[in-house]
Amino acid sequence: MRFDIFTLFPSYFEGPFHSSILKRAQSNGAIEIAVHDIRAWTTDRHHVCDDAPYGGGAGMVMKAEPVAKAIEDVLNLKVGPGEAACPVILMSPQGRRFSQAVAQELSQLPRVALLCGHYEGLDERAVELFVTDEISIGDYVLTGGEPAAAVIVDAVARLVPGVLGNEESAVGDSFADGLLEAPHYTRPVEWRGLRVPDVLLSGHHGEVAKWRWKEGLQRTLQRRPDLVEAALKQRQWTVTELRILEELKSELHLTVQPEFNTASNED
Ligand code: ADE
Repeated sequence: MRFDIFTLFPSYFEGPFHSSILKRAQSNGAIEIAVHDIRAWTTDRHHVCDDAPYGGGAGMVMKAEPVAKAIEDVLNLKVGPGEAACPVILMSPQGRRFSQAVAQELSQLPRVALLCGHYEGLDERAVELFVTDEISIGDYVLTGGEPAAAVIVDAVARLVPGVLGNEESAVGDSFADGLLEAPHYTRPVEWRGLRVPDVLLSGHHGEVAKWRWKEGLQRTLQRRPDLVEAALKQRQWTVTELRILEELKSELHLTVQPEFNTASNED
């Protein structure tokens, strides 16, 4: 899969894309990441890419022309949007919310272009002509789209075959089936008086899988009950799964209740 990133700050990506898993994935050809400096498509001496907003107001606006030229050139468009070689996604707090499902969707594509906005935003005419999608990584405002593009490349790339060492490792991920993951343990068996749960030492793969599913469900109920509701709608749960869910719900109710009562007694 190929990622084309359009940015005014290409050096931002030197860290995230040149270490660890993404570095290896580029070396072995599973993914290709090309970072394009929008300034290279300016024609003036000072490589100006921003200007004051029409109508006044604070901040600067990214000019449309350098962005348009960069996209046309890299994506091989004649002039204007034409037949886009791939989706052109603007990083924007106004976009649709990024999630594991969106990462899955993008990982099926052979190529995506990510456009990093800066300053107050990009001239709307460039958005109109070239942008096919807008994505936000959360309800907060970043100084620019670069951190969002890095997050998206990371989350999407690890779903591309050949990127993770063991293909299975994306399967048990938090969110992979809509629930959070079970906790993990490694050696030693006992550390500062805390033991690894016996089931993980038992060698019974079936029991381990059941334990992990239940622990993951318990975590999700405690931390993100909204995800349990969504997972129930997403697929038909087995009778056993539904029974475990009911058991956990009543167990959690029993443990949560006394703490709640204690707190209110102290008031
Ligand atoms: N640019 C600024 N804030 C952003 C956000 N939350 N997501 C994506 N791009 C952004």
